[in-house]
Amino acid sequence: MSSTAIESTADTLSRLGINADFASSAPNLHKNLQLLSSGQIELAKMLLEMGQSHLFEHWADPGVDDEEKKGFFDQVDRLNSSYPGGLASYVKSARQLLADSQSGKNPFDGFTPSVPKGEVLTFGDEDFINFEEAGIREAQKAAFVLVAGGLGERLGYNGIKVALPAETASGTCFLQYYIESVLALQEASCRLVQGGCQTRIPFVIMTSDDTHARTVELLESNSYFGMEPAQVKLLKQEKVACLDDNDARLAVEHRNKYRIQTKPHGHGDVHALLFSSGLLKIWHDAGLRWVLFFQDTNGLLFKAIPASLGVSSTRQYHVNSLAVPRRAKEAIGGITKLTHADGRTMVINVEYNQLDPLLRATGQVDGDVNDETGFSPFPGNINQLILELGPYIEELTKTGGAIKEFVNPKYKDASKTSFKSATRLECMMQDYPKTLPPSARVGFTVMDAWLAYAPVKNNPEDASKVPKGNPYHSATSGEMAIYRANSLILRKAGVQVANPVQQVFNGQEVEVWPRITWKPKWGPTFAEIKRKVCGNCIISQSSTMVIKGRNVFLEDLSLDGALLINAVEDAGVKVRGSVQNKGWILENIDYKDASVPEQLRIRGFRINKVEQLEKNYSEPGKFSLEP
Ligand code: UTP
Repeated sequence: MSSTAIESTADTLSRLGINADFASSAPNLHKNLQLLSSGQIELAKMLLEMGQSHLFEHWADPGVDDEEKKGFFDQVDRLNSSYPGGLASYVKSARQLLADSQSGKNPFDGFTPSVPKGEVLTFGDEDFINFEEAGIREAQKAAFVLVAGGLGERLGYNGIKVALPAETASGTCFLQYYIESVLALQEASCRLVQGGCQTRIPFVIMTSDDTHARTVELLESNSYFGMEPAQVKLLKQEKVACLDDNDARLAVEHRNKYRIQTKPHGHGDVHALLFSSGLLKIWHDAGLRWVLFFQDTNGLLFKAIPASLGVSSTRQYHVNSLAVPRRAKEAIGGITKLTHADGRTMVINVEYNQLDPLLRATGQVDGDVNDETGFSPFPGNINQLILELGPYIEELTKTGGAIKEFVNPKYKDASKTSFKSATRLECMMQDYPKTLPPSARVGFTVMDAWLAYAPVKNNPEDASKVPKGNPYHSATSGEMAIYRANSLILRKAGVQVANPVQQVFNGQEVEVWPRITWKPKWGPTFAEIKRKVCGNCIISQSSTMVIKGRNVFLEDLSLDGALLINAVEDAGVKVRGSVQNKGWILENIDYKDASVPEQLRIRGFRINKVEQLEKNYSEPGKFSLEP
C-alpha cells in the first residue's frame, strides 16, 4: 500500500472516530494497517467491537509472513459473509446461548408436551393409494434438497456417503437412487398432464468442504445419473468459528495463530443457503409449491415420498415431518406439540433423552410410555421434511434465513467456566418450525419403518454392539432393508415371496429376504407396481431379481435363482414361466479383511454371481421372456 493510501486509511479511521480506540485496543493491528483494505479494516473494527482483540495479539511478532495476515482476513470475510447477520451476530448469539448453558437454563421451561395432529398411513390401503396419487400430481411443483455435507464420522467410510451402493445386487449408489427417483416422479407427474409437460424438478445438494469436490466428481463422471446438469445445483455450506470461552472469544488454531478454528455448523445451514442463494424465490416465481428435504443414506425414502407429499397437499401442511412408529424411550427424537404457559405453541422434534424428563416434569408421571398400540404416541422423527414454499419464504424473510441454534460445550468442571476444547454454535434442519407463528400448519406423516427408514450411519463394530431389538443403521441393515421392503411390497401386490432367513454379517443378525430390486421408474407408486404384476408369481428366498426398465411386467413368473432384466424405455417386456438357476449367493466377509473393497467389507457380505438369466432389450417393441 502506498503512503497516500496509508494516510487515507488513517483518515478513514479518524473520520469513523475509532482511531484512538482502535490503536489502543489492538496496537499490534495498528502497526499492520498498511496491509489492509478498507473492507478489512471494517472487519477488524467489527472484531474489536465484539471483544476479539486477542486475535491480533501476535500481529507484531517478528518474522510473520504478511500473506498469513491477508489469509486471516480472507477467512474472517468468509466467516462473516456466510453467516446470516455476519460474525457480529454469531458472537452475540453465542454469548447468549453460552450464558444460558452455563446457568443450566432448560429450553423447555414453561412448555407442556402433547401429541400433535398428523396422518398415520398404512401401506397399500385405499387412503395410502389416494395420497400417493395426490403426491404424484404435486411432484411437478416440488424441489428436492439433499443435505450431504456431513462427515459421517460414525460410519467411518473413506469416501462420501452418497457414493456408497444402497444395495449391491444392482450396485446403485445412494446419489443415483435419489436422482433416478426424482426423475421417476418427474415422469409420472408429467404423464398426468394432458399432452405431457416439460417440468424439470430442481435437485439441490448441500455439500461442505468435506464432501463437495467428491460429489461433483461423482456427478460428472456419471453424467449426472441421467439428470440434466442444469437441474442440479450444489450449495456448499461453510464451517463456523469455534469459541474458546463463555465470552465467545473466537478460538485460534494451535499451529497457526492467524487462523480461526472452525467446525461444522450442522444441517440446519440448508435453510440459510437456500434463502441467500435466491433459489427459493426463483422456484416460487416458477410456480413451485413444495420443498422436500432428505438425508444422504436412506435407501427407502422415496417409497414414502409420494404419499407424504399427498398428505402435505391434502392437509395443507406448511411443514410435514416424515416419521415412523417409535417405541417409548427408543433413541430417536419424538415429534411433539409444545404449549407454553404464555400461549405459544410449536410442533417440533424433541430428542428422546429430553422427552421423557419433560413429560415427567409436566405431570405425566410415567413419562414416555407406549400406548395400547405398543408404541409411544409421539412419532419418531426421521428428519425428512416437506415444506410449503410460500410460507417457508415468508418465514425465512423474517429471520434472514437463520434458524434456532444451540451450543453444547464440554466443560472442564462443574464451575462451567472453561471448556475442554473449543465449542461452536450448531443448528439442525428440523428445528426450522421453532420460530413459526401458532397459525402455521405443522403436521407429520407416519409410515412403517420397513417402508420409509433405513439409514446407514454406523460402522460395523458399533452396529454389532447395538442392543438386541434396536436398529443397526449400518450398511448391512440398510441393504437388507431394501430387499425386505421390495419383498413386502410385492407380497402386498399379490406375489408369493418366500419368508426370509436369519443370517449374521459383521456380528449383526438380519433378515435376509430375496434380493429384489428395481429402478425407481418401474414402480414409483404402489398402484404402478400392482399394474406390473399379475397372475400367480412366486419368488424363492434364495432368489435375486434386478429390474432395470420401466415397462417390465411379471406374469405367472416362478423364480428360483437370479433374473436380470434390462430394457430401454419403449421396450415392453412380459416375463412369465419358470426361471431356475444356481443364482447369486451371499458370502460372508469380515469388515477387517483389508483385501476386500471398503464399500463391501462394511456390509459383511459379497455377492457371488454363480449363475443367472440376464436379458437385454435395447430396441423399442413388445417382447416376451419365457425361458
Ligand atoms: P448425520 O446425523 O448422519 O451426521 O447427518 P453426519 O455428520 O453425516 O455423520 P456423523 O454424525 O459424523 O456420523 C444427517 C444428514 O445431515 C447431513 C449429513 O450429510 C446427513 O445427510 N449433514 C450433517 C450436513 O449436510 N451438514 C452437516 O453439517 C451435518
